[in-house]
Formats: sequence, C-alpha cells, structure tokens
Amino acid sequence: MMLPDVPESAGPPLWLLAELTYRCPLQCPYCSNPLDLQKDATELSTADWIRVFGQAREMGAAQLGFSGGEPLVRRDLTELIRAGRELGYYSNLITSGIGLTERKIAAFREAGLDHIQVSFQASDEELNNWIAGSEKAFAQKLAMAREVKAQNYPMVLNFVTHRHNIDQIDKIIELCIELKADFVELATCKHYGWAWENRDQLLPSRAQMERAEAVTNRYREQLAAAGNPMKLIFVTPDYYESYPVACMSGLGRVFLTITPDGTALPCHSARILPLNFPNVKDHSIESIWQHAEAFNHFRGNDWMQEPCASCERKDEDRGGCRCQAFMMTGDMHVTDPLCVKSPHHGQIIEAQQRAAEPAGPVEKPLLFRNMKNAARFTGKP
Ligand code: SF4
Ligand code: FES
Repeated sequence: MMLPDVPESAGPPLWLLAELTYRCPLQCPYCSNPLDLQKDATELSTADWIRVFGQAREMGAAQLGFSGGEPLVRRDLTELIRAGRELGYYSNLITSGIGLTERKIAAFREAGLDHIQVSFQASDEELNNWIAGSEKAFAQKLAMAREVKAQNYPMVLNFVTHRHNIDQIDKIIELCIELKADFVELATCKHYGWAWENRDQLLPSRAQMERAEAVTNRYREQLAAAGNPMKLIFVTPDYYESYPVACMSGLGRVFLTITPDGTALPCHSARILPLNFPNVKDHSIESIWQHAEAFNHFRGNDWMQEPCASCERKDEDRGGCRCQAFMMTGDMHVTDPLCVKSPHHGQIIEAQQRAAEPAGPVEKPLLFRNMKNAARFTGKP
C-alpha cells in the first residue's frame, strides 16, 4: 500500500533510534516509554530490524541507537549490532546495565558496537535501588560500568536528575570520576510518559536546580585544572527556561524512532499525538519518511498558530515540543507552554510553585513503571 504523497520532502533521517523492546527489569518512574506497555507486547523479528537498518542507512542514516526498555533482553542484540556495523553505522547501546556481563561486552565489541551508555538512578545504593525498583541494581551497574571501561569502551554515564537525587550531585560526579566516565549526562527528566504522571513528585525546585548547576560548574573547573578529560553535560530542567528549544531539532527533520512493534515515530513520545503513524511492516523507511502524513505534519511553518506564527524565534525553536504542547493543552499545534509567550504558561508557573514548597508538592506516591501500573492506562492515549 502506498502512503499518500505530501508535497514537502525532507533531508535524510540521520539518527535512527531502535527501541528494540519495552521489556525491562527496572521500574523507573520517569521512563519515557508509553504508559500502556501491554499494548506493545509484539516485537519486530531480527530480520525486520535488519531490513529497517538497511533501508534507513540507504537514505543516509548514520547513527544507530539500541534502546528500549532494556535492549539487553533481546537475545539477538549481538546479531543486530553486527548488522549495524556491516551497514556502516556508528552505534550506541543505551542500557541500565542489568543483564550485562563481561562476556556480552566482549561480544558487542567484537560485533562492532561503538559506544555504551549506562544509566544510574543515584550515587548511593539505597536511593538508586528505590528509584530503580530493584534491590540488586546498583551493585550490578557499578560492576558493569567498571567492566565497560576495563574493555576500553568510551563510556557515557547517564543520571536522570529529579528532586529526590539532585541534591547529591557532588556525590554523583565523584562516583563518575571514580568510574572514569568519558561523558556524564546530568539531565532532569523530561516530563513525558511515566515522568508526566509523576511530574509533581519529580520536578526539582529552582533553588535545587541552581545549586546543582553551581556544583557542576565548580567540578568542571576542578576537572580542567586537574587535566581530567571527563565531560560534564548539565541539562537544565526545561520548566525553568523562558523559551523552549527545537525538540528533536523539529519533528521529521533528523530523528526517526522505531518502536518494538515497528511503529515509526518522529520522536520517541510522539505516539500520544493524534496522527496516524505507519508501521515498518507495511511501508519502507523511505516511503514513511518522505510521504507519511505523520512525518510531514510538522515540517515547514504552516501548522503554527500565534504567537509562534509571527515570532522571530520560530525557525530556531520550531515552537518547542509538540508532545508537551499536546499533553498540557490537548492541542498539538499550540505554542509549547514552556514558552513565556504561551497563553498556557501559567501551568508551568504553577508547577514551579508547587516544586518550591518547603515540604515538597502534595505527597502522592511515585507511580513506578511496571506492568501492574501500566494496566490502568491500557486504552488511554
Ligand atoms: Fe518559540 Fe513560539 Fe515561543 Fe516564539 S512563541 S519563542 S516560536 S515557542
Ligand atoms: Fe515529542 Fe518533544 S518529545 S516533540
């Protein structure tokens, strides 16, 4: 079946994110996976994935991310890595480290994997394991981060920061120095998926965020003075910015995500948007990227409403995040409420004010990402 032709064409999808599975042994309450996990129980076969990698590569895709869920639960991961290498991709494994072994790291190296990113939940065992929903997670992550470096991999350590761990930022950075990370990502969670449900329980206060940024800057200076090449990447919570950035560099411009069941998305969260997303089992990547309405919808500026339509920043930030605009207003075309010019910006101010209350926001338990909790969302957008 051909997808309807849409006039505007685009450059190639440079970045292919393969969400191999939504299965995961951990239960992070800020996971960006969909809330209704059960709906995506089916997974593409090895042959399907390799076909997708080949089609995207032919179009010019250069980076291939293996993600999930936890991609290590796929038994064919080494085979998929090898296929990516043979096609000429630069590949990156994004993992919790749970299920990783010394032998698997060696096999991935032999198969041609370029880069490993290990995520941690905190710098101390108790907090890490509480957030991860697993008593064994921290010890395993430590062991595997050490092993990744022992096998000479460039390593990114990723800490999703939030109000429960951001005050430990000095200890987090110390741990990264000890583990000899090459890059450290300290990024407050983006509030999609499970993080949206838990937003008030996760959003740090402005004071917490400013303290953490100052500590990070101090460490940057110390690292530079000591000749330590470790790079600290601190991502400010977007709720404390005045203007949004171009989420995904603008939808349909650079990023292509394929979900476990083969649905093609212009960003990992886009499935919540009221668009028809094609599946790689029915269409080629070229047909999807060039012709699918879901990929063309936000190309160009015609879709924009005021105040974006007449704003001088529109080509730079593309009106901000479409998923956030939809989640907060029910309309995917409006200005991202993060923007101070948005008529919905009051929702952001209210969230900031709740986060600033000394005792924290109204206490509500964190909703952990697991199948039991997912059951309550089945059928919801
Ligand atoms: Fe960006 Fe729209 Fe805000 Fe202008 S009004 S800064 S284009 S989000
Ligand atoms: Fe989808 Fe920002 S997360 S556009």
